[in-house]
Amino acid sequence: MTISFEDRVAIVTGAGGGLGRCYALDLAKRGAKVVVNDLGGSRDGTGHSDAALKVVEEIEAAGGTAMSNGASVTEAEQMEEMVAKTVEAWGGVHVLINNAGILRDKSFAKMSVEDFKLVVDVHLNGSAICTKAVWEQMREQAYGRILMTASSTGLYGNFGQANYGAAKLGLAGLTKTLAIEGAKYNIKCNTIAPIAETRMTEDIFPDAMKGVFAPEKVAPAAIYLVSEDAPTSTIIGAGAGFFHAAYVTMTDGVALPEGELNAEGVAAHWAEITDRTGEKTPQAGAEQSMQAIAKLQALGG
Ligand code: NAI
Repeated sequence: MTISFEDRVAIVTGAGGGLGRCYALDLAKRGAKVVVNDLGGSRDGTGHSDAALKVVEEIEAAGGTAMSNGASVTEAEQMEEMVAKTVEAWGGVHVLINNAGILRDKSFAKMSVEDFKLVVDVHLNGSAICTKAVWEQMREQAYGRILMTASSTGLYGNFGQANYGAAKLGLAGLTKTLAIEGAKYNIKCNTIAPIAETRMTEDIFPDAMKGVFAPEKVAPAAIYLVSEDAPTSTIIGAGAGFFHAAYVTMTDGVALPEGELNAEGVAAHWAEITDRTGEKTPQAGAEQSMQAIAKLQALGG
C-alpha cells in the first residue's frame, strides 16, 4: 500500500532543518503541498534566518510544491495568518506537524524561571497555538491529522531537562484530549518521541554512531501518523529504524476500607496499589473514577 498525500495540504513547524525538514521533504515527495514554517533561530531559540526558504527551494527543485513561513509558533496572530494564507492558496489544511523546538538545558537547581517558561512556551504553548490555528478549519472540512513531538525526556525523564520534559509530557497530554475532541470530526492526533542526530543532539552522539540515528529514519513513523489511515491517541517512539509504542497505564489498584483510609493504610497496601497485574491503558480520564467506583462497590459487597 502506497501512502499518498496527493491533494493534501500540510504545515510542518520548525521545518527549516533537522527532523522537520525531513518530514517536509517526504510529505512533498508524496504529493502534499507543504508550508515550511521556521523562525530560523539557533538551538537556544535566539536569532532568525531564512532556513524555511531554503527547504522550500529544495522541495521545489525536486518538483514539489511548498511555501515558507518565518514566524514563531509562539505568535498566535501570525500562526492564524499563516493558516489563512494557506487555506486561501491551497483550499485547506489537512496535516499539522508540531515539531518546532528549542533547548535551554541546565540542572533544575541552576535553571532560571525564564528558561523554564521559554522552553514550555515554544514546545507546549507553540504547539497549542498552531493547533488552535488549524482546528476550526479541520473541523469544518471533517479531516485533520495532527502530530505532536514529545521526547523520551518527557516520557521517562533526563538530567538537565526539567523545562523540556515538562513541555514534552504536556504535549502527550494535549494529544490525548485532542484525540477525544477531534474524533467526531475525523481529526486524529498522535505524538512522536523521536531520536535523531540533528543540531539539537549534536553533542550527544559519539562519532562512531554517525548516521545510525539519521533523521530520515524517524520520518516513516511521522508520515504514517499523519496519513489517511493513521491511528489516534498513540505515543510512538522512533529512531534509527526502531519503532515502539509508549502507554500511560493504570494499575488495577485497591480501595481502602474506612478503617484504613489514612497514610498508614496507603503504606500498608503499597505493594497492591502498585502491582502491575491486570494493568490497563485507559482511553479517557473518566476511566479512573469509574475504576474507583467499581472498587468501592466491590469493597461494599
Ligand atoms: P532542530 O533544532 O534541528 O529543529 C528544531 C527547529 O525548530 C529549528 O529549525 C528551529 O529553528 C525551529 N524553531 C525553534 N523555535 C521556533 C519557533 N518559535 N517558531 C518556529 N520554529 C522554531 O532539532 P530537531 O532535533 O530536528 O528537533 C525537532 C523536534 O524534535 C523538536 O521538537 C525536538 O524537541 C524534538 N526531539 C528531537 C530529538 C532528537 O533526538 N533530535 C529527541 C526528542 C525530541
